[in-house]
Amino acid sequence: MTTLPTPLRLPLEYPVFCEAGAFAQVGAIVRQAAPSHRIAVISDDTVAEHHGAALLAQCPAESTRLFSMPPGEREKTRERWAQLTDALLAWGAGRDTAVVALGGGVVGDLAGFVAATFMRGLPVVQVPTTLLAMVDASVGGKTAVDTPAGKNLVGAFHNPAAVVIDPALLATLPADVLRSGLAEMLKHGVIADASYFDQLLQFLPELATHGAAAPGFASLIAGSVRIKAEVVAEDTREGGLRQILNFGHTIAHAIEKVQRYAMLHGEAVAMGMVAEARLAEQIGLAGAGLATAVRGALTRAGLPTALPAGISIDAVIAETHGDKKARGGAARYALPRGIGEMEAAEGRWSVPVPDEIVHAALLEQVP
Ligand SMILES: NC(=O)c1ccc[n+]([C@@H]2O[C@H](COP(=O)([O-])OP(=O)(O)OC[C@H]3O[C@@H](n4cnc5c(N)ncnc54)[C@H](O)[C@@H]3O)[C@@H](O)[C@H]2O)c1
Ligand SMILES: [Zn+2]
Repeated sequence: MTTLPTPLRLPLEYPVFCEAGAFAQVGAIVRQAAPSHRIAVISDDTVAEHHGAALLAQCPAESTRLFSMPPGEREKTRERWAQLTDALLAWGAGRDTAVVALGGGVVGDLAGFVAATFMRGLPVVQVPTTLLAMVDASVGGKTAVDTPAGKNLVGAFHNPAAVVIDPALLATLPADVLRSGLAEMLKHGVIADASYFDQLLQFLPELATHGAAAPGFASLIAGSVRIKAEVVAEDTREGGLRQILNFGHTIAHAIEKVQRYAMLHGEAVAMGMVAEARLAEQIGLAGAGLATAVRGALTRAGLPTALPAGISIDAVIAETHGDKKARGGAARYALPRGIGEMEAAEGRWSVPVPDEIVHAALLEQVP
């Protein structure tokens, strides 16, 4: 009888395991959290190459199958969802099947959506393999695919049966993809916990020297998961508080669209966090120095904070309104009052900011 790791104590209905070595227990965790006759492991080719065999070795060979797809956001489509659900049907999967999502946020969102919809819902165990998926995408129950009209437009809320986070899996992740996840961790510090923000900053040299295997990184990941979990537990369907997770993201999403997603999400978030911290200062919510502190932290983490060379600020502002032409107006922003504290805005957790102010803030970030 194997002893399972102890799940984190979180205000969630499902267990989240987070420790070095947890990956070796995925098979046992699936048996306990999602007892089933078949196991469909959904992954991408890159992740499957690195970590697929070690996972399959923990599952009964005759009733487990790996469904792998090419890596990348371009695969997060209804077409790929259709192909995967057809493949599950052809294999004979039924309601007694558990899905294991082994991969980054793309695999997690897509496999989660397959699980949410296949025969009206199968249990899914999320096994995130990127830092972004560990601290953000795997927790919260949002699943989706993209459409030509935009990202994540077709999806469902479908909580996982369990989440298994093992920072050892990050050893194979390219350095820039790892750093991209750090942006979301620093965001968690800004929106909820100044001491977590400081701990993370102090840990950066360790991370630079030892990589994701640095002792202590698992507990920092757990700290981030806790912040995300506490926010989503308060607001499971995004009525109010969950807005604060969007800090940095109004601008980040606009930059990503204008750049046609030619950058890592965390890099756009880093730029957006600096811009939005500056907005908070300029409309008098935050004291002077917030944007400098946020920029300093992101720079130490190796993230870019200047806007991409040549980007049109008008185009970015237009995208904050969800349309293609800049117009006089005001998009809403989730803004900090300082590190660790967000503006509640009478329960709406976001405030409108006039475009002129956004324009001035972005101008300061032109390289
Ligand atoms: N559901 C949510 O709440 C939520 C939250 C945030 C982001 N997301 C979604 O997450 C997606 C982005 O996720 P991502 O940044 O993890 O990207 P990703 O899943 O595309 O992974 C990035 C790249 O890293 C590779 N990779 C993954 N793990 C690896 C490993 N351990 N070793 C080597 N290579 C590895 C992948 O093959 C891929 O090429 C977006 O689609 C976004 O919408 C969802
Ligand atoms: Zn994000």
